[in-house]
Amino acid sequence: MALVELRNVSKFYHLGGEQIRALDDLSLDIDAGEFISIIGPSGSGKSTLMHILGCLDTPTCGTIRLDGTEIQHASRRQLARIRNEKIGFVFQFFNLLPKLNVIQNVELPMIYSGCSTRERRDRAVAALQLVGLENRGKHRPMQLSGGQQQRVAIARCLAMDPEVILFDEPTSALDPTMVSEVLSVIRRLARDGMTMAIVTHEMAFARDVSNRVLYMDEGVIYEEGTPQEIFDNPQREKTRTFVNRIRAYTCRIDSPDFDLYAMNARIEVFCERHILPRATRHSLLLAVEELLNLHMPDLRGAPLELTVEYSEKSETLEVICERLGNWANPLETEGLPDDLGLTLITHVSESIDYQVENGKSRLTVRIGKRQG
Ligand SMILES: Nc1ncnc2c1ncn2[C@@H]1O[C@H](COP(=O)(O)OP(=O)(O)O)[C@@H](O)[C@H]1O
Ligand SMILES: [Mg+2]
Repeated sequence: MALVELRNVSKFYHLGGEQIRALDDLSLDIDAGEFISIIGPSGSGKSTLMHILGCLDTPTCGTIRLDGTEIQHASRRQLARIRNEKIGFVFQFFNLLPKLNVIQNVELPMIYSGCSTRERRDRAVAALQLVGLENRGKHRPMQLSGGQQQRVAIARCLAMDPEVILFDEPTSALDPTMVSEVLSVIRRLARDGMTMAIVTHEMAFARDVSNRVLYMDEGVIYEEGTPQEIFDNPQREKTRTFVNRIRAYTCRIDSPDFDLYAMNARIEVFCERHILPRATRHSLLLAVEELLNLHMPDLRGAPLELTVEYSEKSETLEVICERLGNWANPLETEGLPDDLGLTLITHVSESIDYQVENGKSRLTVRIGKRQG
């Protein structure tokens, strides 16, 4: 018997006379010890699914069994109890109470489940040890980094000894430099056999750690399979497009005084994640800087969306500059400040493509491979 069983679950929302099918007749089994990654575009129903799995919300129709007990008709109170006993939830934001210290934050849910003071303390300390924060018990959340705060949130779950932990984009709100410490903690839980489901954009992580990957689209599980099946050999069109596109870093630039150094730092992290050679990284940063210079004069008119995209499969690296409006190709416009930028871009690129389509202008520069 599966630990969690969803059968024909739908969730509809009504917004201004319109019906939104956030989940559309979805069925899913999660076995004890499984680690499931859920990927898919924004708005595809991932959070709705997690909320229903986590008893934070009830479906419009369909059935849910948790540990063999049907719960779709449970009252709010019953749901709260089930949640407290069986389910851990880690969100994008940590929801730690700022006035309590770390230990007290971890202890808090145990107060509602009626543990003794002694037991609460012991369990909190043990949980903090598991996430490597045993020495931070007396700190306030504000005194910790974002990554550490998220680890406290995970400890808060672990202390309750849940049967399953659900993560909804646990690293999306973190500074990129802190993503890996949180993922390492989750990785370790996976190794210890904890049953988990995670909504994530960290594809390399999902591929390494999960037993099963679900690709969601428009409220359904559009494709599912092993990480190899989904990432290396997706069968359906949308999965294929998504898997190839997601390895991207996007930054929106709408003013000339944006923080170039912060953006470069993020691009460096991106390169690190995809193990790009140093010379390629250098070319990339150079291209990005020159492309920004080219767009600088009329940034205020139309913000620039700059995407760095890497396809592991074809090993191609592209910088894409997108703006709303029918703009002339900035590489061809007369009156460039100088030719140097253009020369540099041409030098590091393998190909350059410019397109105006559906009211959007898109310049794609493919960075050439370099060893080193
Ligand atoms: N409380 C709500 N009221 C109305 N519509 C909602 C609500 N929550 C989610 N939706 C809609 O349901 C769809 C799925 O949302 P969500 O599960 O948050 O997607 P994801 O997590 O994949 O981005 C979206 O179209 C979203 O706008
Ligand atoms: Mg979501």
